[in-house]
Amino acid sequence: MHPSLVVGFAVAIIAYLALQFLLHGTQSKREPCILETTVPFFDSAIGILRHRANYLSNLRSKYRMSIYTLRMPFQRLYVVHAPNLIQTIQSKANAATFIPNLLDFGMLFSGLNEQSQRTLRDAFGVQGNGFTMSVHKYLLSGPSLKAATRAAVDRLSASVPNHFEDDRQGGLLELVRHELTLALTGAIYGPENPYDDPDVEASWRDFLPGISHLLYSPCPSVTARKALNARTRVIHAFRKYFQTGGHLQAFPMIAEMYETNKSHGLALDEAAKMEMATSLAMLSSGAVTTFWLLFHILSDPDVMMATREELHAVAKLESTSDNSVPRTKVLDLSGIKGKCPTLVAMLNETLRYHSTVINIKQVQHDTTLGDQYLLKKNGIVMIPGESVHHNVDIWGPSADTFDHHRFLSPDSKKKLSTTSAFRPFGAGATMCPGRHFSTSVILSLVAMVVLQYEVLPLQGQWIAPTKRNADLWNAMPKPDWDIDVRLSKMRVEENPVEWRFAWGEDAVKNLF
Ligand SMILES: *[C@@H]1O[C@H](CO)[C@@H](O)[C@H](O)[C@H]1NC(C)=O
Ligand SMILES: *[C@@H]1O[C@H](CO)[C@@H](O)[C@H](O)[C@H]1NC(C)=O
Repeated sequence: MHPSLVVGFAVAIIAYLALQFLLHGTQSKREPCILETTVPFFDSAIGILRHRANYLSNLRSKYRMSIYTLRMPFQRLYVVHAPNLIQTIQSKANAATFIPNLLDFGMLFSGLNEQSQRTLRDAFGVQGNGFTMSVHKYLLSGPSLKAATRAAVDRLSASVPNHFEDDRQGGLLELVRHELTLALTGAIYGPENPYDDPDVEASWRDFLPGISHLLYSPCPSVTARKALNARTRVIHAFRKYFQTGGHLQAFPMIAEMYETNKSHGLALDEAAKMEMATSLAMLSSGAVTTFWLLFHILSDPDVMMATREELHAVAKLESTSDNSVPRTKVLDLSGIKGKCPTLVAMLNETLRYHSTVINIKQVQHDTTLGDQYLLKKNGIVMIPGESVHHNVDIWGPSADTFDHHRFLSPDSKKKLSTTSAFRPFGAGATMCPGRHFSTSVILSLVAMVVLQYEVLPLQGQWIAPTKRNADLWNAMPKPDWDIDVRLSKMRVEENPVEWRFAWGEDAVKNLF
């Protein structure tokens, strides 16, 4: 062997041993154990890059541990699977020990400069972030939630007939993503919505793959150049939006967040960047959820029929003075959550079965969890929703199966009310405050499709796509490929009505 090879070899072995030594030397016996130490400190980064959203669930099925440690350079992650430990972490007594950590994520991928980051940290400190607080105030309940939902539903009902034409072919995910993007952002950003520009919509899509790089790549400016350029275009559009007062005509939440930012001393350019966080919250999961929900409904003729019948039963005929045909049926979409159990049970099962949401908290000081596990200060606690949703102790032997009947039984339905069994929107203080808004809009879009169109896969059969390429940060995993479908409008003989869709009782009064 060549001498320099020998030296190289020796150096590699010494470095390896040193890293192993460092790893085990800095890991307390009382901490949750480390699973894999093939490449000390880099196992998990490699694992995440290889297995993406499946990484944690693979570890869960391979080792079946309640809790374990993943080590990264300068960072320890404690991954918690056991419901009793999750409950302890979430308990009131521990609220000050485990603090949610969303602000950092938002600041990282929106590209805020150092100074603005410091400004926001000072302003919000450990109290979470202004974003969740504002969304709470406007979208959790009450008249403003109703106004936002109605605005989104009105946009959908105007735009679906234009894009879902007879004989239209296209990717199912693509079709619903476009509709939802325009409806959600339109309702929130108002008439000057930057996403009405197709270039901005496309740039947002091009940016998304960059988020993983920003999170895990040592050098995102090189590995994610295209995505970061796309981000610059979106931010630029928002800068213009704020400069020209677009936010003044928007849903009041937007203007308020913008003013909050500025009052904390953020420059306009920097405040525009924060809009990336709002966009991500709005756009990252809705379309994927709708895709899977539609997939499960459309691929099962019985479920499809049951869903249609329930929706028909909620709709009312519009009275006309003449006897013109077709008659118009009006559906108040605000009633479907309460009156269409099959559809809502499908949504709940879609969330349970597919969600890959991960709750993240930071350990504030050394603490012993469940009298057993030492968790060190500044460690990151990760709670994968998936391990709760697929836990056989909670959901029974069919936990790994999609069962559209599951939530029609009162017994399963009871479990929906506790976040130690069902947590697609996260849990605790950071539980997604936009959940009512987004699920209402999702169900509305699904109702519009189911009532008006036959949707058939071009392949001839409905085959569920795999989810290997979904990213770890996604709350809902995107399918590895889109399903090409053909739409045809329901024929008048089968469905002798025109549909009108509305949101809220007052929109349909005087009908019968
Ligand atoms: C700043 O505004 C953006 C949206 O305009 C929002 O996402 C963010 O949370 C705001 N930040 C603060 C600290 O208010
Ligand atoms: C669906 O889940 C929600 C909670 O997220 C619950 O309130 C509702 O009753 C569930 N409905 C059905 C039919 O499963």
